[in-house]
Amino acid sequence: MTDKNEWGSNMSFILAMIGSAVGLGNIWRYPYVLYSNGGGAFYIPYIVAILLMGIPFLILEYGVGYNFKSSFAKAVKTINSKWEYLGWLLPVAVFMIMIYYSAILGWDGIYIFLSFFKGWGADPNAYFTTTLLQSSDSLSGLLSFIPLIAVAMLVGWVIIWFISHRDLEKGLGKVSKILVPLLFIIMIIIVGFSLTLPGASVGLAELFHPDWSLLGNFDIWMAAFGQIVFSLSLGMSIAFTYASYTKDDSDLITNTISIALANSLFENFAALGVFSILGYMSLQSGTAVADLVTQGTGLVFIVYPTVFNVLGNWAYVLGPLFFFTVYLAGLTSILSTIEPLSFSIQNKFGMTRKRTMTILIVVGAIISMIYATSYGSSVLGYVDTFINQIAILLGVIFECIIFAWIFKAEKLIDFLNSRSKSIKLGKWWILIVKYILPIFVTIVWIGGMYDVIQNSTPDQLIFTVISAVLLLGATLAFTLLPSKSPNWENSEERV
Ligand code: PHE
Repeated sequence: MTDKNEWGSNMSFILAMIGSAVGLGNIWRYPYVLYSNGGGAFYIPYIVAILLMGIPFLILEYGVGYNFKSSFAKAVKTINSKWEYLGWLLPVAVFMIMIYYSAILGWDGIYIFLSFFKGWGADPNAYFTTTLLQSSDSLSGLLSFIPLIAVAMLVGWVIIWFISHRDLEKGLGKVSKILVPLLFIIMIIIVGFSLTLPGASVGLAELFHPDWSLLGNFDIWMAAFGQIVFSLSLGMSIAFTYASYTKDDSDLITNTISIALANSLFENFAALGVFSILGYMSLQSGTAVADLVTQGTGLVFIVYPTVFNVLGNWAYVLGPLFFFTVYLAGLTSILSTIEPLSFSIQNKFGMTRKRTMTILIVVGAIISMIYATSYGSSVLGYVDTFINQIAILLGVIFECIIFAWIFKAEKLIDFLNSRSKSIKLGKWWILIVKYILPIFVTIVWIGGMYDVIQNSTPDQLIFTVISAVLLLGATLAFTLLPSKSPNWENSEERV
């Protein structure tokens, strides 16, 4: 018998973690980052970022989560009760990600349908921005509601509720065991097909062409570290929460390495697919690859439909497969964004998993309707920048301070090593999580802040402030509300 918040097996844990890590960032962000930061030469900072930051930090987050076997908020409060506030900050920030991720999932749901008949028409750019999103950059756009997007988003929320309100293994565990392997299989089919397209090699040559001169440039190192934070969902309290759901016999070091490897494999594979397709497009249209390449919603909802338009009948197979893959990748990630807050609330307020999930999903769905307005895509951009460039990086820094310094990473070494069959941690790990990582992330954070302040429009500043107030306000409310669970004050550490 497993508890309501326990994985049925180590496999469920690993696959759910891979599902969380492999998301939109792997499909629409990584190929562009690789291309625009030196191509083949980018692998040097990328591998350094994985070894120096990704794996050591994940081990820390897993180690502490596994040790406490409780929610993030409770663990932080147990380490130092004065800091409970920080224990709510990250789960709330991650829940804010969930709310806007649901919009992207909704758009993609619409594209799955459109792709069966190329419903975006001859001009995919006009379709996406004008017809579908009715994008407006004026605040009054908040008043024009777009029912199609609202319906698509609500479908997503219902699917999420259906999976998340069940006991962990029966919902998320089972779904991850089916969807994550499926995601990899479909991706292999898509990339395999893309590689056979005429022009694929042109795209790949362009992608990998190494620009070694960039290695001395600080920006590409920042890009590599930024990509790894985002792609592995570092410092989001997700890895912590998932590890706290594991059974006693997990080998966390081996698990961490498998997860990081699977994530990198997926994103590099995605890059092969994206650039083969861009190479094909370049050959067909006579436009240089450099002028076609882009990232984010532009790549998925504009460039890909443009390619499908020239691909003939194959597009009716490849199109639905592609948008379905994006949906799967997004779904398995969004499912992870509710867990830290939900588990923290269950711990503090003694509520059941089912009730907590239902309330959070209803609240999330209602707030998310702001993204179903014509101003929605602008708000999404602002909130995304605030969360990713400011809030989450702060989270990584806080976690390093609370876990590595106050809780003391040294306490975890023996505990982790005794459970690891092959790789053992040494002093180097302490050095990384206590010094190298927090210092580096602070530098990246200052860069991000500078960027936001420099490049913000007045509207963006307003939404950055509103997001910050909501984040801090909700965090304060969770901290101040009195606990309703007798176990909230009990702390049993296992080290
Ligand atoms: N790691 C995910 C990706 O690469 C993004 C993500 C962010 C997932 C936040 C969960 C939470 O797309």
